[in-house]
Amino acid sequence: MMDGILITGGAGFIGSNFILEWFAHGGAPLINVDKLTYAGNLENLTSVEGRSDYIFVQGDICDAELVAGLLQQYRPQAIIHFAAESHVDRSISGPEAFLRTNIDGTFTLLQAARTYYDALSAEEKTRFRFLHVSTDEVYGTLAPDDPAFHEETPYSPNSPYAASKASSDHLVRAWFHTYGLPTIITNCSNNYGPFQFPEKLIPLMITHALTGRPLPVYGDGLQIRDWLFAADHCGALRAVLERGRVGETYNVGGGNQRSNLEVVHTVCALLDELVPDSPYRPHTQLIRSVQDRPGHDRRYAIDARKLESELGWRANESFETGLRKTVEWYLAHAEWVEHVTTGAYQQWVTQNYSDRSVVSAGGSQ
Ligand code: NAD
Ligand code: TYD
Repeated sequence: MMDGILITGGAGFIGSNFILEWFAHGGAPLINVDKLTYAGNLENLTSVEGRSDYIFVQGDICDAELVAGLLQQYRPQAIIHFAAESHVDRSISGPEAFLRTNIDGTFTLLQAARTYYDALSAEEKTRFRFLHVSTDEVYGTLAPDDPAFHEETPYSPNSPYAASKASSDHLVRAWFHTYGLPTIITNCSNNYGPFQFPEKLIPLMITHALTGRPLPVYGDGLQIRDWLFAADHCGALRAVLERGRVGETYNVGGGNQRSNLEVVHTVCALLDELVPDSPYRPHTQLIRSVQDRPGHDRRYAIDARKLESELGWRANESFETGLRKTVEWYLAHAEWVEHVTTGAYQQWVTQNYSDRSVVSAGGSQ
């Protein structure tokens, strides 16, 4: 009998939000397989640790034997594949891990899923799903007046990260068309929210501002991202899992296009308000324009109309409400921040930022 779901990368940012939301919505048993790289953190999941319907397995998705064994042992009715190397800047300085986990890892998982799926009964086959969680970065970059990315936008990845995710999407698509594995792909815009590792823009700005460190804005800071609160992404994934059509792609986004400078200024304004006795107020004084990221995509924007009209999904948070909740969460979780910003994290900050010359101080919007 199939029961429950298996997710990969559940100790990361979106995966852990997904697990907490899954159980909050009364979800079925869940197995979380995660290698616990620098980005995986079991502290995100302490509130579900003792549950009898939650199992954590530390393991690598590139380990074919392990993955096949887990499918045999737990017989899940779906796989939701989050595990990835996910940070563009790290993909520029060290692309190997991205090819390994994002491409080889997805291939390994698809092969194991196929063997498992082929042995299911006809009734079980109709229920099984392989949901591949991907990114809007596979579509490349938009000019200011271009229409937002839709499901038919041609792939045009520009960073090693985006290229590795695009490759994984193509593999998933091929496993549907060639082998009949019931896959669905979601391509989501930039997420933010609780539990995001502070190497990414929003948590980096919050944690740096709180400690009076410079806020490094790449280039002119006018690059645009389309921001989505992670819990809204998780709601979209549940809708796709329940009602999505196999073989399809669904774009996920909240319709919140903001320039990086706007984002950083909003974070600073929230901190000015929520930490009135901070010695660093106004926090905008910490903004520094630094050397740009090579190959930096100028603009991302998602057209989520297919998801909205077919599956009735809507984001619950606006950028303003979601960002306020996020800043409040980081303020209330100083211990979590302290634990994730030691050792390897400091090394990364030195590696990524010490060679970026400061172009100017105090970026204006
Ligand atoms: P993350 O980097 O926070 O977490 C990744 C998780 O995968 C970590 O827990 C890590 O330990 C695990 N992992 C890495 N390599 C592994 C391996 N070989 N085997 C098993 N586990 C491994 O990433 P995230 O931001 O939570 O992103 C999750 C997924 O969503 C990724 O596939 C990413 O491409 C996609 N996505 C992210 C965003 C975003 O804004 N963060 C937007 C759209 C799509
Ligand atoms: P990031 O959070 O790394 O997500 P992605 O590159 O996947 O979109 O970066 C979001 C934007 O913020 C991106 O345009 C790069 C920019 N950025 C900075 O300006 N400074 C920083 O220190 C970081 C990490 C990102």
